[in-house]
Amino acid sequence: MMPALTQVYLDGKFLPPDQAKVSVFDRGFIFGDGVYEVIPVFGGRLFRLPHHLARLEASLAAIRVHNPHTAGEWKNVFARLMEEHGTRDQSIYLQITRGVAPRDHAFPPDAVPTVFAYAQPLKYPPAEQLAEGVAAVTTADIRWQRCDIKAIALLANALLRQQAIEQGAAEAILVRDGLMTEGAASNIFIVSGERLVTPPKGPYILPGITRDLVVEIARANRIACEEKPVTIEMLRTANEVWLTSSTKEILPITRVDGRAVGNGKPGPMHARLFALYKEYKRAFIEGKVE
Ligand code: PDD
Repeated sequence: MMPALTQVYLDGKFLPPDQAKVSVFDRGFIFGDGVYEVIPVFGGRLFRLPHHLARLEASLAAIRVHNPHTAGEWKNVFARLMEEHGTRDQSIYLQITRGVAPRDHAFPPDAVPTVFAYAQPLKYPPAEQLAEGVAAVTTADIRWQRCDIKAIALLANALLRQQAIEQGAAEAILVRDGLMTEGAASNIFIVSGERLVTPPKGPYILPGITRDLVVEIARANRIACEEKPVTIEMLRTANEVWLTSSTKEILPITRVDGRAVGNGKPGPMHARLFALYKEYKRAFIEGKVE
């Protein structure tokens, strides 16, 4: 089923979704050869847009596709897509593939990237999940070695998330060589004593924009926050565990592999950081921070 939208953006045009067609020979369809972004819109403003565009640029550079738009052009595309939902909070999805070419693994010399984007109202996690937290399960991180690229090829992530759902959990916490990497579609923080800890950036995690903001807010408020490897043992003995993403914001994980995290309730550090995050978001909506 198509999302109930009146328009999407495809290759320079704004079209109803059922008229937006992509070739079956698009390398996104054939190889998953493309990258994407998800950008939240709060109070009509694109949240952390420069950060998202910088990450997009890094993803494109990693797969050697030229960015088809300048920042100004992207903003115009987003502004038009956002009109449809008025002042509601939204998320923008955009993806760029290497384009259409006869099937061959090697890059086609003259393919034109396919550019697709749409906006949809943001679905916040239900109040109950914020109040009670969600369950997670640990699984082996079966992905590749360039998880820092925001690639559209998400088969492993989809398999891992589905495995979590089938075990009654909301997210899979991925483990590689005894170290926690991230969630199937989120970054993970633990609270150990009075300190926040999250894995350092590198090829095994996506450099989450929400992750970076949490680190920034913590440091600005003199809350100890370390970017260092998190062992499975540290995860098991953490007082609190959270997941972060643009669409789920900062969500407490209160059960890991069926065991309660701390006392099984969202913790005081989450309450503090989430309040600071919401304050930052309010200031952003009011135009007081960029
Ligand atoms: N996913 N790690 C992975 C593997 C992700 O897919 C995401 C986000 C994150 C968090 O990044 P950010 O804070 O920039 O949203 C980390 C998006 C929301 C998605 O695929 O829908």
